This record gives sequence, structure tokens and C-alpha cells, in this order.
Amino acid sequence: MCGIIAYTGTQQAAPILMDGLRRLAYRGYDSAGVVVQNRSKLKALRAAGKLENLAARKPESIKGTCGMGHTRWATHGEATEANAHPHLSNDQRVAIIHNGIIENADQLRTRLSNEGVEFLSETDSEVLAHLIRRELDSAENLLDAVCNTLKIIQGTYGLVVIDSEQPNTLVAARAGSPVVIGIGENEMLVASDTTALASHTREVSHLLDGDVALITPKGMQVRSLDTGLREPQTTQLDEHTAETGRGEFPNYMLKEIFEQPESLARTLGGRLDKRFNTVRLGGLNVSARELLDVRAVKILGCGTAYYAGLSGAHMIESLARLSTSAEPAAEFRYRNPVIERDVLYVVVSQSGETFDTLAATREIQRKGGQVIGINNVVGSSLAREVDGGIYMHAGPEISVASTKAYTSMVASLALLAVYLGRIRDLSPEAGGQIISALEALPAQVTEVLSQSEEIASVAAQVQNAKSAFFIGRAAAHPIALEGALKLKEIAYLHAEAYPTSELKHGPLALIDENMPTVAALPNDDLLDKSISSLAEINARRGPIVVITNANDPRIEKLASHIVRVPDTHDALHPVLMAVALQLFAYHVANALGKDVDQPRNLAKSVTVE
Ligand code: F6R
Repeated sequence: MCGIIAYTGTQQAAPILMDGLRRLAYRGYDSAGVVVQNRSKLKALRAAGKLENLAARKPESIKGTCGMGHTRWATHGEATEANAHPHLSNDQRVAIIHNGIIENADQLRTRLSNEGVEFLSETDSEVLAHLIRRELDSAENLLDAVCNTLKIIQGTYGLVVIDSEQPNTLVAARAGSPVVIGIGENEMLVASDTTALASHTREVSHLLDGDVALITPKGMQVRSLDTGLREPQTTQLDEHTAETGRGEFPNYMLKEIFEQPESLARTLGGRLDKRFNTVRLGGLNVSARELLDVRAVKILGCGTAYYAGLSGAHMIESLARLSTSAEPAAEFRYRNPVIERDVLYVVVSQSGETFDTLAATREIQRKGGQVIGINNVVGSSLAREVDGGIYMHAGPEISVASTKAYTSMVASLALLAVYLGRIRDLSPEAGGQIISALEALPAQVTEVLSQSEEIASVAAQVQNAKSAFFIGRAAAHPIALEGALKLKEIAYLHAEAYPTSELKHGPLALIDENMPTVAALPNDDLLDKSISSLAEINARRGPIVVITNANDPRIEKLASHIVRVPDTHDALHPVLMAVALQLFAYHVANALGKDVDQPRNLAKSVTVE
């Protein structure tokens, strides 16, 4: 959740750290700080609030070629300057930046306080600075001091440490929170994700859980806390990793919404096999023969990825006739799930670093289950740990609210559904229909995007509501869930999604002229039944916004506003309707003057439990 960047090399560190923090700000943005080795002293600057507050303090004025920076998403202690990282030892010799949670921090604080340590923050992380400083009195070097400290702490960490007495040296460690090292010429960087490295180098090395690395401008040495020295593996970053800026867009969210024709084209690129009316999925690592033995599919993810999974479950059931369900990864892993040999487990994650999704993956694998991933970030923890999978290739998603990653998740799940279907009972003709629909999708998304202005005027009509309902039936219910989530997270409006059929079982009591309902209404077998529900809302004077591909005069009569989306295969409504709902949430939030890229209390990539 927090962003980490560190540098050692021949250039001035502070400008590189600030640039890295700007690229990482989406990971956490309630406070930030940097520390630089300045001759034999550590000079630190911190500020509460957005990164501009730190920038205003002119960190570039601190000279030195080795340092580190941090942007925080608070877990322990409020977003104050004192709680911002880096944290330093009392004698200012050691500084740390940390992402994760130290679970035994309270006991360690008490022990250190009794030994005379003065704590300057409320954070769990600060104990690390004091413990490492204490270990330095007896250890041979910083690496040993960090290793000794890590043996007594419990919890998760992505950690970087600097010692004023060991020039140009960084020590980084990982357990549960990602740490990646960028390898340059006479310079090395450390970051919590590759977005901050891509403008410096394409060659990177991911630390594994339990690794501690000693890093100097000339290279690195990696030690596993369990097995001793190990040879680090390096990989090349994918060409889309470098984040390209906002272009002419006022924020990343709008840019990413408008990028969806291209991101979807990349997800589908080279995978549609029109000759055999199936799809090509090179990275699955499961043969068609093995997949024939699969009896059911379980999809796991968090938030938007879970909702994409719910849509995926509908697609797989209808196209492959395999019993499929989706569940929030965090719930799944805590209910001691039964793992079965003939179930295919699919974990969905944009970042590939979401703690609960990773933990669910490990739980399944520990019990002998087979897991494939649908993942955006190449080389992420999830991508490395699953048995095979599908890369979404959506490109970097910076805005905290997921948009283009969601549509690429749904498209990837559609590919999986077709693949599973075509090795079962999906006929070549039916396979061909969905392949053609997938092929048409990027251009159809462009059509939805062209209605942005109209959707903005619809949004203007509901922006003053205190609350909104989102409804959809069967396969359209997950679309409603995703639409409600987008509105909640960026417009801070209460929004609740429920299956249309549930209306009479309770929610109808809340319908009046002040309670708008947004309906995802595909032109499918359930259209008539859904229209009856709209009539019930209309009879209670509830304003209705309909997102539909149906041309039905009854809708015109009942709806206050209609947003039309193109016709598509039944399985692909979630993509086109979600784009309309993303624009709806965006325009409501924008009209209310909210910061859409960095909504309050949230952060991208939830690497803590
Ligand atoms: C919502 C949103 C979150 C993420 C969730 C999972 O817009 O962005 O709900 O979808 O935190 O993140 P990933 O996909 O990185 O596992």
C-alpha cells in the first residue's frame, strides 16, 4: 500500500526519489518523506498530506547520491508528519522506510522504551529503526544487523534501511510486501513496484519472501533468512511498464477510461483463433486434456477483481457448462476451504500484489490445488507464484479506482470461458459468435466513450442524491455491483447494489423521488421481468437511469435517463455497461469536485491484510 523508492549511484538522489514518489503516489498518499546520506549524516524531510507538501519543502536541496523516499497509507497512527516515514534511530544513524505491518510492535515498543529509547511516532514501523540501531552495536555490518532484527519481528514488510556510517549502501528486505530492485549502470534502485523503476532501467530483480539484499552502486548480494546466500534472478520489464503520464487528460482515471479500446485490444491481441473458433492461451500451463478433467471452477479476487470474477463465473457456466462460483479471496482463505483435485482455481488481480489474493493462492497450493492467475503486472508476486495464467496486458493502471483493468479482467475471463467451452460442448458456431463479439469489443467501447458528455449530463441530475441503488439481474447483477463500487469510492456517495429480483423483498421501502436507481438492463431473456421491476420503482416516483442495449418503448416510458450501449454477445455486457458506469461515477465525482485519482482513505495495491 505504501510506496517505497530508494537510490544509490552517481547522480543526486533527491530528484530521483521525488520523481519515484510521484509515480508511486497512487499506492498511498496521506504523507510522504525522504532521507538522503549527506556526507556522513542522514538528512530527512517529511510532510503530512499530499506529495506537494513535501515538494514545497525543497527536498532537492539535500545533496547526496544515496537515499530513500516513502509515500504512506496509514495503518498505525494518523496521517501526521511525525508518523510519516522515514523513521530514524534516536542518534540519527539509522533510517528505515517500511510497507507492511509489524504485529509484535507493541511488545517491542515497551521493551525498547524500558531500555531508554524515545519514540517519536505512533507507528509500528518505528521499532525497526531502533532495533536495527541496537543490533549495529554488536553486528559486523548493516546487513547482519537487519537480518538479526528481522528474526525477532513478526509481521509483513517491504523494508529499506540506510546507515549514515555505510556510504552508498542500502539494505532491503521483503516478507509479504513487494520489493523490486532496479539494476542500472553504476546505480541501483529499490522500489515497491516497477512503475517507479521503468524510466531508469528495464533490468529488475524481485526479492522473494525472506530475502535480505545488500545493495551498492556496483551490484547486490541477496541472502535468504532461511537458506543463506542465493543467486538473484533478473528479468526485463515489459515495454508497457513505463507509465506515460496523463497526456491531455485532467487525471489518470479519465485517461484510463478512454484507453480501454487499446487496452482491450492488447488483452485480446493474438488470442482469437478464428480458424478453429477458439482462443489461444499460451501461458495457462494446463493441457486441454487436463482441463477435460476439471469438474468446477472457483474464481477469487478482491473488490473490482472479485466482481469481474462474478461475471467470469456467469460466462464460464454458460459457455463451458462448468459449475463456477466466485468468492472474495479474503473470505475464502479464512474458512478453511475444501480444495479439490478436479476444481480449477482462478485468481484475479490487477496488481498481483493484493495480500488476500496471494494468501488464498498459497492456501490452495499448500493443499495441492491448481491455481491459474489473471493478472496485469508482469513479474508480480502473483504472476510468479501461480501455476500458469493469462496476462491482461492492460498497461499500468495508476488511478486508484480500477477501470481499464476491470474490463481486461472480464475480457480475459471471457477468453478462458471460450477456451474451456471449446474443449467441451461449445459448438464451433457458438464459439465463432463470441469470438466475433470479442473482436468487435474495442470499437464498441469507443462508441460508449463517445457518449461521455451525455453521461455527464445524466450524472448532473443525480449528483445531489445522498444515496443510490444499482440493480441488475443474473449476469447483470455483478455489473450493478461494480457500478455501485465505482460511485462509492470516487464520489463518496452511498451506493448499494442488489439483484433486481430482490426489489420487493425489502429495498422497495426506500424508493421515493430522492432515491435514484441505476439499472443495468441487457436485452436478454430476463428483459420483461426487469422492466416490470422498473415499473414498480417508477410507481413510487423513484428516478431511474437505465444502461441498456434494448430498444423497448416501455423503457422510454419508465426511465428518467437512458444510456445506450451497443449490442453484443450476452456474455460481454459487463464490458460495455461497465464503461458507461465508470463514466457515470467519474462525472458525478468530478461534478462534486472530488479527487478521482486518489480517493480518500484508499490506496492502490492492498498489500496488507
Ligand atoms: C476498486 C479497486 C479495488 C481493487 C482491489 C483488488 O476500484 O480498485 O477494489 O480492485 O483492491 O486489487 P487487485 O486487482 O490489484 O488485486
